[in-house]
Amino acid sequence: MTALAELSCPTADSAFSAGDVAALPAVLPVVGSDTLVPLVDGRSVPYANLDVAASAPALRSVADRVTEVLPLYASVHRGAGYLSQVSTALYEAARRTVGSFVGAREDDVTVVTRNTTDSLNLLAGCVPANPDGTPGRVLVLDVEHHANLLPWQRSGGATVLAGGVSVAETLSGLRAELARFDYALLAVTGASNVTGESLPVADVVRIAHDAGARVVLDGAQLVPHRGFSLAETGVDYVAFSGHKTYAPFGAGALVGRRDWLDAGTPYLAGGGAVRQVRVDGTDWQPAPARHEAGSPNVVGAVALAAACDALAGLDPAALHAHEATLRAALVAGLSALDGVQVVSVWPDAVDPVGVVTFSVTGHDPGLVAAYLSAEHGIGVRDGRFCAHPLLARLGYDEGAIRASVGVGTSGAEVVRLVDAVRAYVEEGPQVRYAVVDGCWTVVDDPRPVPAGSGLEGLFATAAAGFLADAAGCGPAD
Ligand code: ALA
Repeated sequence: MTALAELSCPTADSAFSAGDVAALPAVLPVVGSDTLVPLVDGRSVPYANLDVAASAPALRSVADRVTEVLPLYASVHRGAGYLSQVSTALYEAARRTVGSFVGAREDDVTVVTRNTTDSLNLLAGCVPANPDGTPGRVLVLDVEHHANLLPWQRSGGATVLAGGVSVAETLSGLRAELARFDYALLAVTGASNVTGESLPVADVVRIAHDAGARVVLDGAQLVPHRGFSLAETGVDYVAFSGHKTYAPFGAGALVGRRDWLDAGTPYLAGGGAVRQVRVDGTDWQPAPARHEAGSPNVVGAVALAAACDALAGLDPAALHAHEATLRAALVAGLSALDGVQVVSVWPDAVDPVGVVTFSVTGHDPGLVAAYLSAEHGIGVRDGRFCAHPLLARLGYDEGAIRASVGVGTSGAEVVRLVDAVRAYVEEGPQVRYAVVDGCWTVVDDPRPVPAGSGLEGLFATAAAGFLADAAGCGPAD
């Protein structure tokens, strides 16, 4: 195959070869990059984590920071002790760092949440109602991850518009729909979790603001991979996740305009969100406390801030070139294989992030994904990626396979994936697979349970079912 050798780097004029891609190192060290996983042939290989779009490994600096602050950890906001005050300061400093990382304006609020889904559900409770008391209108495209679809559908004000086959057609559809009604909000992805593609944010903001609507960006796939600024783009709200931003410690964020967040329904009812509670009613705090009832995730917030600091410290051009090179190698390498199609929603989209979804004609995506794991030690995601309407419109009701990269991904891992899919296409699987409880699994899987995982006492080998138990696989997903 010559595809990799013929690639042209999209961010530099120089051509690069397959050898160049294979030699490309990770940009930042991540925990687990040298973890060995067993193969069905008895060998062990370093795990190639190409499922970064689902959950990214922790940056080494994030793990170190967590270890550093744990001895300082104590109750926050309500404790009089010295370490309580230190922890409160750490939490509030983390909030400021996270807000700055996404270019928060002076009056914007940063709410620490669990993840993007949490952030968008929170915002759904803050969209002002129409003057007649009906839920405020929210416009959303059918390309969205369920996290940026279901909260609006449940709030009762959503219109789901089919995306067009090009960026231009999609923008013109949005413009026309926004002119039909008084929308409060346009909810749009910063980068598709299926294809990595996006609409030009400046155009989206202009179209929405011209129509009097605000914009919330689902930043789950964008923020960890590109510099993003609320102040520079004019986007009103951005939501993103720590576990996709190399800080898998349970925190995410919603950042944006204060007025809706101050007046909206408190996301959780409980201690910390209130000024005064009487038996006949409650006076709530303004944001962010209004939406952060219960003891907050201090360690998660500190971890997320550490990740933001690490990413902000990178040269944006180098970060971009690394990811664009890996993505181009994936697209070119996979597209060159017989029977392999790379999925695209907007072929004219500029500068997609490192998420590439593909299918192998006539082959169940779950089987291909199980093969990549069992015979090559490569982790990908298969299914419908929590984007059922988009997969249905694109004709992938049975799902597809997704590879995704980040700052911890090396070129060698990408080359491994392309080589492994080529081996699948040309030679097929070398062991038998069967569907068990809806998941593709190796028949009589000999792979051992990882030593030190704590699972050893529960399962004798992978054949005993722990992989299938853990997979949560299939097109329903
Ligand atoms: N939202 C994550 C994904 O797209 C889980 O895979």
